[in-house]
Amino acid sequence: MTRPIGSSPPGSPNTAVSKTDHDRVVIRAGRHADLAQTLELWRESRGPGKTPDAPALSDLVDHNPGGLLVAEVEDRVVGSLIAAWDGWRGNMYRLTLHPAWRRQGIARRLIAAGEAHLRTLGAKRITALVSRADERATQTWLSTEYEDEIATARFAKTIGQERYGPSAGGPPRRLTWPRLSGLLCRAQARERARESRP
Ligand SMILES: CC(C)(COP(=O)(O)OP(=O)(O)OC[C@H]1O[C@@H](n2cnc3c(N)ncnc32)[C@H](O)[C@@H]1OP(=O)(O)O)[C@@H](O)C(=O)NCCC(=O)NCCS
Repeated sequence: MTRPIGSSPPGSPNTAVSKTDHDRVVIRAGRHADLAQTLELWRESRGPGKTPDAPALSDLVDHNPGGLLVAEVEDRVVGSLIAAWDGWRGNMYRLTLHPAWRRQGIARRLIAAGEAHLRTLGAKRITALVSRADERATQTWLSTEYEDEIATARFAKTIGQERYGPSAGGPPRRLTWPRLSGLLCRAQARERARESRP
């Protein structure tokens, strides 16, 4: 039986989950049949994404078997991780747990499974992009063997949404500490507002 992701977890009338429930969680490669629930999990647990999720996720499952990992409880996807191999390095994205299933060690199990998958493909180095504004996310990665490389900057461009360039006022500004702390404060305020919504 497939349950909507927003319903209570199996065997639990509300969001309370006993500490032994994580034994019922199976970590496995995601399939096409899991995509709708995975997208719903992302919408519910992370908010709407900026990337074209559905077609990209379908391509990932077609072309990178094992690149999507799901945590499943009785036919219900309660967690996910993308463990992508680009031929050079391994990269992890979209680590997500449904709120009712957090603090069970499931994220760490997904990370371990993603790492095992990437090792079989030959990865010698694996990275994860994590928002510094998200305390839960940074604490989760800090609880693993992955190191916070504070000296490394991330340079990114979203194809089709270029906001800079000669006609739009020149290149982006360098991220200084005052600007970074301003961005973090605004992100944390948004996060708090999202969490306090009924
Ligand atoms: C971040 C997230 C994936 C963690 O999932 P999780 O299954 O609850 O994480 P785990 O139970 O495996 O936690 C592992 C460790 O991370 C740390 N941690 C996780 N959540 C934490 C929190 N809310 N506060 C403090 N530490 C936390 C703890 O050290 C924890 O170990 P412990 O429970 O033994 O103390 C989950 O909160 C989530 O989906 N958040 C929204 C989406 C998101 O931010 N994803 C991260 C993108 S990189």
